[in-house]
Amino acid sequence: MLNELSFHHIGIACFTIEESKAFYEQLGYKASQVVDDPIQDIRICFLEKQGMPLLELLAPIDQASPVNRILETQGVTPYHICYEVNDFDTLITILRKEHKFVRVSKPAPACAINNRRVAFMFRKDVGLIELLESDAK
Ligand code: NI
Repeated sequence: MLNELSFHHIGIACFTIEESKAFYEQLGYKASQVVDDPIQDIRICFLEKQGMPLLELLAPIDQASPVNRILETQGVTPYHICYEVNDFDTLITILRKEHKFVRVSKPAPACAINNRRVAFMFRKDVGLIELLESDAK
C-alpha cells in the first residue's frame, strides 16, 4: 500500500513569494499564478521545471497562518514532502493505525490544486508529509 505513494511536490515555507521565487526563476523554474488558500490560510505559488522536482512556495497571509510557526523557528526552509495517493481515506487510516503517524490537519480541499483534498501527517522520524488525493478516482 505504501509503495503506491507517488511524489508530488516539496513544500517550502517563505516570508514572501516574490522574494523567494526569484532564486528558483534563475534556476529556470517557471512560477504559477499566486493563489490564496483561505482554508489553510496560506499564499501558494508552484514552481515547475522539466526534470526537476515540483516546488511549492508557501507564505503567510496573516498572523494566524500556520506557516508562521515554521518561519519563526527555522526561517525559510523546505518543510513538507507531498505524495499523491489514489485511496486517500484508506491510506490516512493505515498511516495512523499501522505506521504511527499523527494527522496534523483534517482532509480539506486545496484550491491551488483543483480543490483536490489534502491532509498533513506527522511522524517523529519522518517529519511532515502531505497527502494529495489523486484526481483519477
Ligand atoms: Ni504542499
